[in-house]
Amino acid sequence: MTGSRPSPTKSSADGCGALVYAVALAAVIASFADDARTQEQLRPYTVVGDAIPQSLTGAKGDVERGRNIVVNRQVGLCLLCHSGPFPEEKFQGTLAPDLKGTGARWSEGQLRLRIVDASRLNPGTIMPPYYRMDGLTRVAPAFQGKPVLTAEQIEDVVAYLATLRNE
Ligand code: HEC
Repeated sequence: MTGSRPSPTKSSADGCGALVYAVALAAVIASFADDARTQEQLRPYTVVGDAIPQSLTGAKGDVERGRNIVVNRQVGLCLLCHSGPFPEEKFQGTLAPDLKGTGARWSEGQLRLRIVDASRLNPGTIMPPYYRMDGLTRVAPAFQGKPVLTAEQIEDVVAYLATLRNE
């Protein structure tokens, strides 16, 4: 009778070991991913006139992810300065043009350059460069050595802004 008891205990201990291992592995993977992000080289891009005509990733971004980045107070911070068609957002910025209608005013390439590095168009702008690493002062440690947004996130934001066609 007693001889039959230990086996479930033993197998549950094994399960626990596997869980600990899986968690440790996940942590290692996460730290590698973080390293990879920290060392992400900026992808090369070409400015033509006042635009970056080509996608930074070679692909189209995702409209819904882009909207989430724009309204997110930790990621995009756009609403610190901008307002836009976001009825659910109570506090919106008044320091910059309203984002509604931006997709009608600007091409995707023009939007891309404005997000990547608005200072190329207006050296005195207060809008932060979202895809630049050099020439920045007062960069928070979490943002050092990497752009504020990844190339994928830039494309998501561009894809979303391009849908804002109503004034
Ligand atoms: C610190 C303030 C600030 C933040 C944060 C900011 N912007 Fe701006 N943005 C501006 C200002 C000011 C302008 C007006 C042009 C200029 O000064 O360069 C502008 C211009 C723009 C334009 C051109 C608008 C037009 O119709 O002329 C777009 C598009 C834009 N911003 C998108 C964004 C997005 C998307 C984000 C977030 C990822 C963002 N901005 C974050 C201040 C900001």
